[in-house]
Amino acid sequence: MKVIAYAVRPDEIASFEEYSKIYNHNVTLIKESFGPHNAHLAEGFYGVSILGNCKANKEGIEAIAKLGVKYLASRSAGVNNIDLETAKKYDIKVSNVPAYSPNAVSEFAVGITLCVLRNIQQAIRRVDVQNFGLSGLMGSELRNKTIGFIGTGRIGLATIKAFSGFSGKLIGYDLYENEEAKKYIEYKNLDELFAKSDIISLHCPLTPENYHLINKESIAKMKDGVIIVNTARGGLMNAEDLIGGLESGKIGGLATDVYENEVGIFHSDHRNSILEDDVLVRLLKFPNVLFTPHYAFYTDEAVDNMVEYSLESLSEFEKTGKSKNEVK
Ligand code: NAI
Repeated sequence: MKVIAYAVRPDEIASFEEYSKIYNHNVTLIKESFGPHNAHLAEGFYGVSILGNCKANKEGIEAIAKLGVKYLASRSAGVNNIDLETAKKYDIKVSNVPAYSPNAVSEFAVGITLCVLRNIQQAIRRVDVQNFGLSGLMGSELRNKTIGFIGTGRIGLATIKAFSGFSGKLIGYDLYENEEAKKYIEYKNLDELFAKSDIISLHCPLTPENYHLINKESIAKMKDGVIIVNTARGGLMNAEDLIGGLESGKIGGLATDVYENEVGIFHSDHRNSILEDDVLVRLLKFPNVLFTPHYAFYTDEAVDNMVEYSLESLSEFEKTGKSKNEVK
């Protein structure tokens, strides 16, 4: 199949070369993220490969539909950047890569949680300027904490298992209970989870129902000094409400790999520009906030899986009209 892959990073190229031969695709790689402004580049291609940082909104999908594109394969797990209704309307089949190594994200969630709990980011910054003092660096131990997991699917479960080694109390909330997770956690309703957790770790997809799940009202239900960890999606949190919570001390720490308006900022170098997003700029200033640029997924194992499985889906679509990773 003739495929155009957008948002291709240098570290994906070797995997594209390997798997396009295996799955018999002729793939054109481009660096720019997909959006309505460059959808025209898909002219003459049946398949389009994108990442979670691409803007496959109504206009973008309509544009590729007019060009005759039949398949849209995301190399990411989340599909909140894709207007699935418009894709359906134009009969464009969509796939994602839900099954790449969950450990990439779960191990990262443990890492950033510990960074905030033990003020590791502050310690590194200080040592960089030869400040070896201890003042303000005292942390606390995970074994005495209750950790609440929102979303106990593949990544949530892997994160629960990873945290289970620290002997803290683990609780969880999900729309559907996971039998395996029950070996490690007690399921609670959402309000109970908010009330009981010292640390809340988000592992659910972003949907219209849970948009801004972390907001002024839910923050008010949380324990004083709660630590919020987000390796899922930025839209799960109302960033302005987070600022309010951090200013009052209600939120004791935030570790996040994602931000609602990250597209156009994350995954590129802005050292020489002035960030226009005042909310992000404010959040970056808190000493107890740790931001990482949406790279929890970024391990050699996961990147290879993401390229392979997306090209496999395009091949399945071509041969059978279906894919095991089709998103409906
Ligand atoms: P999954 O589909 O295996 O699990 C998601 C779980 O969330 C399911 O059990 C589902 O029932 C639950 N859920 C859905 N809506 C919910 C709600 N409103 N409240 C509570 N639970 C809800 O997905 P997986 O693989 O565990 O991924 C989870 C999310 O992690 C992805 O959707 C994506 O947004 C994010 N992610 C982030 C990455 C990063 O680099 N930071 C990389 C990969 C995924």
